[in-house]
Amino acid sequence: MDAPGIDRLLRKAFARGTQAELVHRLREDGLLTLGVVATDDEGGVIGYAAFSPVWIDGEDYQWVGLAPLAVDEDHRHQGIAQQLIYEGLDTLNEFSYRGVVVLGDPGYYSRFGFTPAASAQLHCRWPDTETAFQLFTLADDALVGISGRVDYAEPFNHAAV
Ligand SMILES: CC(C)(COP(=O)(O)OP(=O)(O)OC[C@H]1O[C@@H](n2cnc3c(N)ncnc32)[C@H](O)[C@@H]1OP(=O)(O)O)[C@@H](O)C(=O)NCCC(=O)NCCS
Repeated sequence: MDAPGIDRLLRKAFARGTQAELVHRLREDGLLTLGVVATDDEGGVIGYAAFSPVWIDGEDYQWVGLAPLAVDEDHRHQGIAQQLIYEGLDTLNEFSYRGVVVLGDPGYYSRFGFTPAASAQLHCRWPDTETAFQLFTLADDALVGISGRVDYAEPFNHAAV
């Protein structure tokens, strides 16, 4: 895993450095469940998607959060983010994770099958995120018996979302 390449990409893609620092912390703390990387012909990092554990109502239900997601400006609009997301979902499914949450534009994530988390009585701690907070189920019964607050890992408490 090209950690410096991922760091460079994230510092370019997000004006403030918080997302790069977030991934650094997640990696250091062993909280990166999955990182999916896209590279160019020379092996340079041009896209990255990170998945890390989340807790629902304080319990570990084998759900993860997708964040951050970034593609280098010169390589956008070619479906790279889409590939990163699909590969991430496939891999998580193989490893029997049960669901994924994301905070982002519903116009974008709905095309992958993400739906409003609020419809499943799930919310996160950040204000005004009712439409932006979305979920994707990997297991058929992923939503059975769960509701309440979804908490990201501790390093997210220091990152702007
Ligand atoms: C969002 C991002 C990852 C998309 O990467 P990408 O590889 O260009 O995405 P794809 O090619 O798979 O999809 C592009 C399409 O997604 C849609 N899209 C992209 N960004 C979007 C956004 N912020 N909101 C809604 N739709 C968006 C557009 O319809 C776009 O279609 P177009 O190519 O016809 O213009 C990239 O723009 C990026 O890194 N942005 C900066 C970081 C960021 O905002 N990350 C998302 C945090 S939730």
